[in-house]
Amino acid sequence: MNDNDIVIEAWNTVLFEKFLRFKHLLVAGLAAHSDEVLSRHPFPPGARVLDVGCGFGDSTLRIAQEVGPRGEAVGTDCASNFITVCEQDARANGIANASFFVADSQSDDLRGPYDHAFARFGTMFFMMPGAALRNVRKSLKPGGVFTQIVWRKREENPWIHDAEMCVRAIVPVVSHEESGQVHCGPGPFSMAGPDMVSAMLKAAGFNGISFERFDADICIGRDLNEAVEFAMALGPAGEIIRLAGEQGEKLKPQVTVALRETLGRYVRPNGVWAPSSTWFIRARNPA
Ligand SMILES: C[S@@+](CC[C@H](N)C(=O)[O-])C[C@H]1O[C@@H](n2cnc3c(N)ncnc32)[C@H](O)[C@@H]1O
Repeated sequence: MNDNDIVIEAWNTVLFEKFLRFKHLLVAGLAAHSDEVLSRHPFPPGARVLDVGCGFGDSTLRIAQEVGPRGEAVGTDCASNFITVCEQDARANGIANASFFVADSQSDDLRGPYDHAFARFGTMFFMMPGAALRNVRKSLKPGGVFTQIVWRKREENPWIHDAEMCVRAIVPVVSHEESGQVHCGPGPFSMAGPDMVSAMLKAAGFNGISFERFDADICIGRDLNEAVEFAMALGPAGEIIRLAGEQGEKLKPQVTVALRETLGRYVRPNGVWAPSSTWFIRARNPA
């Protein structure tokens, strides 16, 4: 198995199962960011748009509605289990102008040409983001814009970083090499630095690069119990516990106490809401 097979395996198995368990929170929370970028920079009616690393494809379906019946939204993901859910949801919602296929964005044919491309929280998990950015650009028509949403720095994202700090203080950090387990790839904050990301986009052949900040509170649980479960399963905190294996499992009661205290400050009458912050990154395939 090469590094990318390990990441694909992770997204198709353990991470897919965790995402499915918390789909209700993830879809609503992440859509806060995509709804904003799509209202600031809507795709025009009739456009053909690629959604890279589309996960459950809710963003793909939203784009399909935006571009209307003369347009098309095409979602791709390296994990076939996500694509199966996408196809079911498209059928269930009667959205005929969305289609999906399994593809590794770094190396596979992305079936262009597209007018534009989109990625919500996908690119930060690509093992070779430079290769993926180049491949996405090649799938675009001249002048096509690639819009990405990525997390800004961890300190501005307490919705997952507070739990990470809490877990790090209790659970020994084991690297995925040491653990021998599958892993998610570079991780949620790997594209938080605008200097590095704009250099990567330029090297991939893009121009007209821009960054816009957006902040929104995200619901991480309908109550404190669910927020603690969510934190122990997903994000860097969940990964530290998983990679620590048996020891991580043993320390869960201690972690639960600490997380209840840490996340307790975010409890509101309608759930547990914590701040999050993203970059909307837009880059153009030269005309
Ligand atoms: C954090 S999830 C985001 C999913 C979705 N875009 C969303 O916002 O809900 C990252 C996604 O990237 C996908 N992914 C990771 N590496 C990939 C690659 N090389 N090619 C295509 N998809 C990849 C994963 O399978 C996963 O669905």
